[in-house]
Amino acid sequence: MKVGARHKLTASPETAIPGEIKQGLTTRSVGKQIHFFARIDSTNIAARKLAELGAKEGTVVIAGSQSKGKGRMGRLWQSPPGNLHTSIILRPQIPPTSAPQVTLMAAVATAKVIARTIEANPEVKWPNDILIHGKKVAGILTEMDCQGNTLNFIILGIGVNINAPLKFFPRELLSSITSLGYETGGDVSLPQFTRCLYQEIERYYDLWMAKGFRRIRNEYTKLSLLPGKPVQISSFKKITSGEVQGIDEEGALLLLLSNGRVERIVAGDVTIRLNH
Ligand code: BTN
Repeated sequence: MKVGARHKLTASPETAIPGEIKQGLTTRSVGKQIHFFARIDSTNIAARKLAELGAKEGTVVIAGSQSKGKGRMGRLWQSPPGNLHTSIILRPQIPPTSAPQVTLMAAVATAKVIARTIEANPEVKWPNDILIHGKKVAGILTEMDCQGNTLNFIILGIGVNINAPLKFFPRELLSSITSLGYETGGDVSLPQFTRCLYQEIERYYDLWMAKGFRRIRNEYTKLSLLPGKPVQISSFKKITSGEVQGIDEEGALLLLLSNGRVERIVAGDVTIRLNH
């Protein structure tokens, strides 16, 4: 089903109200328990507190806006009203080293929902950026809690620029971001988008748990902007340049260096090099 402007369902475009999200939600766990806040510091922080108190897998936190939205690499995630800010508690029984795969799984699910919503072809930029026409529309921040080799829980945080006017963002970001509303020229139903996202996250999560990372990797690769591109990666205070080959069976980025060696990058910030 399309969830774009012509299919708008709600009279409350500013927030994704739990009752509206739950109407027609057929998931087993994701979104069954919703903790809603009109404004909060960060849904990832709230979800972590709930997880520490024993909240079930699939419990979600949603905020209309965030005062300290967390982005990757300690950045602030701009979180004005009208956009989606949600965090999902997951409790997969996997080694902590496999946890970063959840980011790629969620990137595929989010990109699929965006594609259906606005009939666009979003691309993913490793590991967690979702772009439309080269501009960032959504980001994912996965945080985990472990004790030694045991993973207790994962907080999967997803932010999508939906209806907040772009003028609410700092000027320096305007050349690099977009929103679903801007791309369609109208409002997108926030509750309906959120419901579709929970459905799709659960579908890909189940697939990942049942069949492993291979299908997710294939789908991620099809959506991926980077293969064949010359890039610079900043990772653990080190800058590495090379050409992206793809991602491996664990979700790490494979970078072909000028000396012919292939380096495996497990975390980092990727910039596409224009002049090389
Ligand atoms: C990024 O691209 O840097 C990741 C952005 C993740 C933002 C989302 S919004 C909901 C959740 N709560 C947070 O504080 N951050 C994530």
